[in-house]
Amino acid sequence: MKLEGAERLLLRSRAWRMTRAALPLIFEFDDLPRRADVLELGAGGGFNAELLLRRFSDWRLLVTDVDPAMVDLAQQRLAKWTPRVCVDQVDAAELPYPRDTFHVVVSILVWHHVGDWRRATREAARVLRPGGQLLFADVFRNRRFDGDRSSLRYTQRGLLELAARCGLRPRRLRCLNALACALQAEKDEVVRRG
Ligand SMILES: C[S@@+](CC[C@H](N)C(=O)[O-])C[C@H]1O[C@@H](n2cnc3c(N)ncnc32)[C@H](O)[C@@H]1O
Repeated sequence: MKLEGAERLLLRSRAWRMTRAALPLIFEFDDLPRRADVLELGAGGGFNAELLLRRFSDWRLLVTDVDPAMVDLAQQRLAKWTPRVCVDQVDAAELPYPRDTFHVVVSILVWHHVGDWRRATREAARVLRPGGQLLFADVFRNRRFDGDRSSLRYTQRGLLELAARCGLRPRRLRCLNALACALQAEKDEVVRRG
């Protein structure tokens, strides 16, 4: 889904960059591999990637977004990290990568934009290696708060059920508030296909 102008500006802002400092608080960084091939989906301007490149000196990142303006922005921000990083225009629901490619897949505040979130979830699981980890955070629909008016298509439960069917086992689930959660999940060694 295309971003609105105001959202584009926010994603470039210093304030947004500062909110990324929460990542080590919502995910268990000590559980992550020291050396890894990492895919970030819907990376926006590249703030998460920058933080991860600093924190994990042996990670190589493939940073992606569907929006060409965001890809340009991330390219500019991350140029100094070449060759550990590569930036590409990719739709999270149609990943052009083989099965079992990445040790870590990162998706922060992307699924509420992705048109087909089920397909994107299956794709993220497909490209993760067995034993690899998904770092996911987003908002979701909560009927107690907004009944059926929410524009969001998935509930936290729906997301977790699909993740389980894709062989993604939660290592850590944090409810950030009633409408947002952070999931750190590991892909089973043997995954049921389908
Ligand atoms: C709210 S921003 C979050 C950006 C970044 N993940 C962050 O935490 O700063 C959502 C991002 O998802 C991207 N996006 C939307 N639909 C997408 C899709 N189908 N595939 C990949 N990226 C998508 C948008 O272009 C935007 O950069």
